[in-house]
Order: sequence, then structure tokens, then C-alpha cells
Amino acid sequence: MNYYKRSFCMLIVFSILLTGCSGQTKAPYKPSFTPGAVWLDANGEVINAHGGGLLYEKGTYYWFGEKRGKRASEGVNVYSSKDLYQWKMEGLALAQSQDSASDIAVGCIMERPKVIYNARTKKYVMWFHLELSGQGYKAARAGVAISDKVTGPYRFLKSFRPNDNMSRDMTLFVDEDGKAYHIYSSRENYDLRIVQLSDDYTAATTKDKLLFSEHREAPAIFKYNKKYYLITSGCTGWAPNKAGIHVADSLFGEWVSAGNPLQGNGADSTYGGQPTYILPVAGKRSSFIFIADKWNPKDLKDSRYFWLPIEFRDGMPFIDWRNEWTWN
Ligand code: DGJ
Repeated sequence: MNYYKRSFCMLIVFSILLTGCSGQTKAPYKPSFTPGAVWLDANGEVINAHGGGLLYEKGTYYWFGEKRGKRASEGVNVYSSKDLYQWKMEGLALAQSQDSASDIAVGCIMERPKVIYNARTKKYVMWFHLELSGQGYKAARAGVAISDKVTGPYRFLKSFRPNDNMSRDMTLFVDEDGKAYHIYSSRENYDLRIVQLSDDYTAATTKDKLLFSEHREAPAIFKYNKKYYLITSGCTGWAPNKAGIHVADSLFGEWVSAGNPLQGNGADSTYGGQPTYILPVAGKRSSFIFIADKWNPKDLKDSRYFWLPIEFRDGMPFIDWRNEWTWN
């Protein structure tokens, strides 16, 4: 090999080493949302965080979601991002247990994880829908786990039915006064209920109320201009159906149905997806992102996500499909 060839080879080897060491991204940076498309993390791996929820802290967003195999539930993954477009895999926030006596023994189903921060105890608190191993969707319980660090690992505390009510699809909401709530599908999903959490956010209080009995699931909530908006889906398993929005002046109701907030083609089937979370964009009073899962029941890990902006017309929120958008 002559001098020039040898130098060229050394340059290539050096560049490869440098890229590896600097942790440079392997996926091209794309500063926009492309709803329904395959979404890669900064390492070029497909993001595996379904039924997700987000937490914002000191300039960083954390996305918690179900880690899925083809069918299996494999715990809760967490990703981080500064700009919402590019996500770094932070690891498995909550693992399933190897102890077959544990409520979260391998084989259980963990769905729709949501994490909130408790300023008093300085703990991150995760709630999720838990189904016990080998029991299908019969157990209908809420699971709670905590961590000192936002990315975990989270320590499983307990699972239960809030005030003996079945608890399947769920979300958490922290109001401006710091009080937190668990909103959940109950009574075989016929009822949607709310329960206030204890001050440390790890337990349900007895302040528990039926919101409406309209056979709804997949609750996603936000507050804007002193009104609360709750978007839900119907109950058709993994298959898409029509979303609906309810509006209230108080979390405990009365909740008034206000039709389907989705517009245009595909609105009657939620564009093929199901709500999971509504993200208030930090520092923007009126920017909310509607987050949904486009389930692939034959290969759950391959389910897609779509994030769409919530817009307002005559004071009412609505959502329209976009092939590509930026939140600015
Ligand atoms: C619909 C729920 O919203 C999902 O989270 C999941 O529980 C599926 N049903 C299971 O069929």
C-alpha cells in the first residue's frame, strides 16, 4: 500500500472511531413531525413507547411508553428530547419482575404509563394500567411505581382497584393547584371515573366520582382558559373508532359531550388511531399536541404514533390531519 492509500485508510478508520466515541446521531435529524410514519430515535432504532405520556422538566421532555414485543408487554421505556422531534433512548424505566409472585411478574400487561413529579416528596410517580400475568384483561388494576430519578429505574410499589372499581385505560392529570387525579375506564369500560390522588401521588383517595357512562376508553385530558377538555375513544379493542370530546368547568363535572374534535378525511376512525395523551407545550399557553397510537395488533411494537396540533375555532378545540408539520 503506498503512502497516500495508507493515509486515506487511516483517515477512514479514525473518522469511524471518532463518530462512535462522540455518540454522534445515527439517524438523520428531521425537525418536523410526520404523523403515522416510522419514528426513529437518535440511534436509528424504531421508538418503542406506546400508549405513552410525557413529562417536561428543565428544558427536557421525557416520553414514557409501553415497550412491546410482537404481542408481549415488556415494561415501560423512556426517551428524552429537547425539541420533541428527536428522541434519545434513556432505557427501560420500569422492568417486569422475575419473581412469579409479583403483580408485575413477566407475562403481565403494562399499558398507558403516565409519570408525574411530586414536589413535596421529590419523587417521580408512575401510574399504569396493569393486567396480571395469565389473566387476560380480567384483573383491571392500576399499578404505581416511584423513582428518585426521572429516567428511573422505577420501583414498583403496588397495584389495586381504586375504591374497588375496575381500572383499565387511564391517564393522570395535575391541576394548577398541584392536586393530581387518575382518570380511568371502569365497570368493563362502561364508566369513565376520576379519583383524586393522595398528597404524595402514590394512592387513590376516596374522592372518586363517575364522570359519565358512555362506554369510553383511552382518556386524554387538557385544561385551557379555565375549561377542562377530555378526549376519549370508543371501545373496540385495537381497532380504531370515533373519538369524542367532553368539556367541563370542573374536573368532577358536569362533563358535556361536544362531538368529535377530529376533522376531515378519516375523522370518524380517528385517522386509524386512538388517543393516549395531550401535551401542553412548555412555555406556550395555547399550544397542545394530541398524541395517538396507530395500533398494529399483529405486531404491537410496530404500532405507529401520530402527534397533531390542537387548534381552536370559536373557543372549541379541533384536530386536523397533517402529513408533516412543525409546532412553531
Ligand atoms: C384498547 C385500549 O385502549 C388499549 O390500551 C388496549 O388495552 C387494547 N384495548 C387491548 O385490546
